[in-house]
Amino acid sequence: MARYLITSAIPYINGIKHLGNLVGSQLPADLYARYQRARGHEVMFVCATDEHGTPAELAAAKAGKPVAEYCAEMHQVQADIARGFGLSFDHFGRSSSAQNRALTQHFARRLGENGLIEVVSETQVYSVADDRFLPDRYIEGTCPNCGYERARGDQCENCTKQLEPTDLIDARSAISGSTDLEMRETRHLYLRQSLLKDKLDAWIDSKTDWPVLTTSIAKKWLHDGDGLQDRGITRDLDWGVPAQFEGAPWEGMEGKVFYVWFDAPIEYIAATHEWADSHGLSDKDWKRWWRTDEGAEDVRYVQFMGKDNVPFHTLSFPATIMGSREPWKLVDYIKSFNYLNYDGGQFSTSQGRGVFMDQALSILPADYWRWWLLSHAPENSDSEFTWENFQASVNKDLADVLGNFVSRVTKFCRAKFGEAVPEGGAWGEQEQALIRALGQRIRTYEAHMDAMEIRKASGELRAIWVAGNEYLQSAAPWVAFKEDPDRAAAIIRLSLNLIRLYAILSAPFIPGAAASMLAAMHATDDGWPGDVEQALSALPAGHGFEVPEVLFAKITDAQREEWQEKFAGVRD
Ligand code: 2FM
Ligand code: ZN
Repeated sequence: MARYLITSAIPYINGIKHLGNLVGSQLPADLYARYQRARGHEVMFVCATDEHGTPAELAAAKAGKPVAEYCAEMHQVQADIARGFGLSFDHFGRSSSAQNRALTQHFARRLGENGLIEVVSETQVYSVADDRFLPDRYIEGTCPNCGYERARGDQCENCTKQLEPTDLIDARSAISGSTDLEMRETRHLYLRQSLLKDKLDAWIDSKTDWPVLTTSIAKKWLHDGDGLQDRGITRDLDWGVPAQFEGAPWEGMEGKVFYVWFDAPIEYIAATHEWADSHGLSDKDWKRWWRTDEGAEDVRYVQFMGKDNVPFHTLSFPATIMGSREPWKLVDYIKSFNYLNYDGGQFSTSQGRGVFMDQALSILPADYWRWWLLSHAPENSDSEFTWENFQASVNKDLADVLGNFVSRVTKFCRAKFGEAVPEGGAWGEQEQALIRALGQRIRTYEAHMDAMEIRKASGELRAIWVAGNEYLQSAAPWVAFKEDPDRAAAIIRLSLNLIRLYAILSAPFIPGAAASMLAAMHATDDGWPGDVEQALSALPAGHGFEVPEVLFAKITDAQREEWQEKFAGVRD
């Protein structure tokens, strides 16, 4: 049994996420966590809400609520929706937790003691109209790298370059649009990540099996232009982890908090600490996932995220970990994603464009979405959601192939043999051929899942479903029944067992339907299949079952049109 530590990028607290966010981090992470658990491994799967920073403050102000209250409410909303999508976090934490505050300050102190934090006196953008210093992302302007006109002061959305606000051309306040910006003197902490450049470079070089999307982004920021730059890690805000604290190796940081991107990844560790605390466990229990001196040596740590998050996870967070000179676990594998587009444009939170997680669940159960999103995951390039494609995939893969198989087999059995697995004769060449084919396909499926090749894995799973359908079609128990009921019974005995096998294999993708299939089969053993022939004998003759409710209803043209219309505009 191996141990897997799995983290999904933590979604910002300000608002409900869209399907593009979901498919880029939480959903594939859940797929992987469910799969590794099913393989019998020990899994710690954590996520959280990313609660600090100006977006949270402004969203709270807009909602007319104190920021702490707003975050508590929105955390609950996001947690409920995550549950609705079947996201099987061991813990869904909050970056505003006491655990994260302590850990963030701990890392900052260690970095300071190790000479990796510097107090820098600088001039910062102050908006006279807004009466405040403007955080980086609330300054907009033209990207000096690619010329994109709506680049933000922290990063250009278009070319992913990390920026400083002063890099922007024609800067303006994103809060008021005011161009009445002044430079004012203030002191901030800087993380001297440039000192760790060679170490980071060598570390990235050692990751030869990482997706090119991940390493190419890291390499770009290590080598392009002036190379890896030191980063300011404090901000003039009230809401966040205070940068002045007892034992801090600096002074004068009163009224400042750590930059949200400094404390957010530390929340991965803190969420595991929160998990231990909420289960009445000890420090040892969470540290065995995170400290290589306390048992985490044999943990495989995998992170899931969208491509815009890659620089922070390949460079900044590892710099924090390495710079602490303490034996914290570094990530072993980063699975990153391109973007999912929506019907000819981009999903956009700020513009309310696309389908948001709560809306999705209000029209169809989670499995429909999970299947489409995962089987179209933007792995090698951006991908696009269209209602036509969604309808076609659901109707074909889920309703016609999988759902139909389950329905035909169980209904036929009930009509001809009753609601128990029939005995029938021995299996013949046709069954042996199916068993051989499934054996190969299942091993291929496992290989893709182990490699986190999600589209390939979904394709193989679909092929496994198709193989059952083709077998049923050619074995034709409804024909055999007339001449040789024993033969028909043998076919059905295998097919009912196949439903159980399909449930187990499909559960990481469509956990809800898989649970219904197992329940209908009255299956208690859901162990991952080793030998296929054995797995297809798990339900013996005489074992009772039920005909399940329709697993997947087809999406009608009328529904598709209605939804297309409904989600064409923007959400307020
Ligand atoms: O892009 C985002 O949604 C960020 N909130 C992700 C943070 S991931 C991590 F570092 F915690
Ligand atoms: Zn740019």
